[in-house]
Amino acid sequence: MITMHYLQCISCGNRYEPDEIVYRCSCGSILEAVIDLDGAKNIFDGNNMSVWKYQPFLPVRRRASLNEGGTPLYPAENLKRDIGYRRLYVKNEGENPTCSFKDRGMTVGVSKAMELGMKKVACASTGNTSASLAAYSAHAALSCYVMIPSGKIALGKLAQAIVYGAKVIPIKGNFDQALEAVMEASRRFNIYLLNSINPYRLEGQKTIAYEIFDQLQEVPDRIILPVGNAGNISAIWKGFKELKAAGFIDRLPVMTGIQAQGSMPMVRMFAEELSELIPEASPETVATAIRIGNPVSWQKAINAVRESGGLMESVTDDEILAAQRTLASREGIFVEPASASSVAGLLKLQGQGAIDEDETTVLVTTGHGLKDPNVVIDSIQIMDPVDGDMDTMRTLVGE
Ligand code: F0G
Repeated sequence: MITMHYLQCISCGNRYEPDEIVYRCSCGSILEAVIDLDGAKNIFDGNNMSVWKYQPFLPVRRRASLNEGGTPLYPAENLKRDIGYRRLYVKNEGENPTCSFKDRGMTVGVSKAMELGMKKVACASTGNTSASLAAYSAHAALSCYVMIPSGKIALGKLAQAIVYGAKVIPIKGNFDQALEAVMEASRRFNIYLLNSINPYRLEGQKTIAYEIFDQLQEVPDRIILPVGNAGNISAIWKGFKELKAAGFIDRLPVMTGIQAQGSMPMVRMFAEELSELIPEASPETVATAIRIGNPVSWQKAINAVRESGGLMESVTDDEILAAQRTLASREGIFVEPASASSVAGLLKLQGQGAIDEDETTVLVTTGHGLKDPNVVIDSIQIMDPVDGDMDTMRTLVGE
């Protein structure tokens, strides 16, 4: 089945055909895929979840898949008791094939690259996008180039990109400079760009919304997630809006985006009610995945937050690291620092009285904790080795 669609500029409404390789409108704004939802069947039956379960809503014909999606939605029993919530869930995207939500976007984006007959793909990345693109392009036998901010990506992510066979190109500067470089290189050298400015990436990522609805069989009141380049919050919002447009749901969740305090251009934009994003020149945070000063999808993201009656909030690095420990030690869910900002954001907003404990809330945790082991190891001191005799053991286990 072929899903009918076209690409449309979110600012001027200009349309582009699906076989055109285009990432920005001639007016300079960004594009999104408009899907024909006429006659769409309600396939949200709570069973057999995966990205490709939702193929009737995905605008690609080919399929480069590593069995992505179908991630657990954990009821956070201990955490919700600790903080007095009634319905709190963790959608753990770290349980995807390369251990982040990026796989949902890449399965669709790389499928589109194959459909277009492209032989080379590329992205700029703070780590996870490059790991994911490297895996999917290996699977699809495409050449892969990833531009990373030199010295600022977590070790696990770098190891993934290397072992999947990508050409890793460190760029002097931060993610924003790497993105500029890869956008220009893609234009000049016939390479398919797979950053989230590519609307097909977000088509894959919108399945997070589909899956949450499929798993809960209702619409949550609030979604809380980290915001970096601002693609994912836009994608999830699009997913929910499509469910509503197709008549499967009758209300929408409130979108709540969290940024790190050292890297929060979207939070400023929201707080100061700006109509244009003011980029941050030197973003800095322990959550390297979201160390981004000039998010490419800011327009889509601010629309998602404003239309949904949502919020943008910032959290400090200390709050992020504490939340990472809390989620791991109370729920058994180990996420990377960027993902822990969802939990830190929830705690901060609750402390401010800005959100309500009666809401059904879903925290999206975007990447696995093992991606960035150093952030944990460097912050602790393991005790000196002891003899394994039972006197010592008795003391240590508290008998
Ligand atoms: N969480 C994690 C673990 C991420 O890797 C990212 C983005 C985000 C959240 C933010 O999502 O950009 O859609 O707002 N990582 C990108 C990368 C930028 O290159 O891996 P976003």
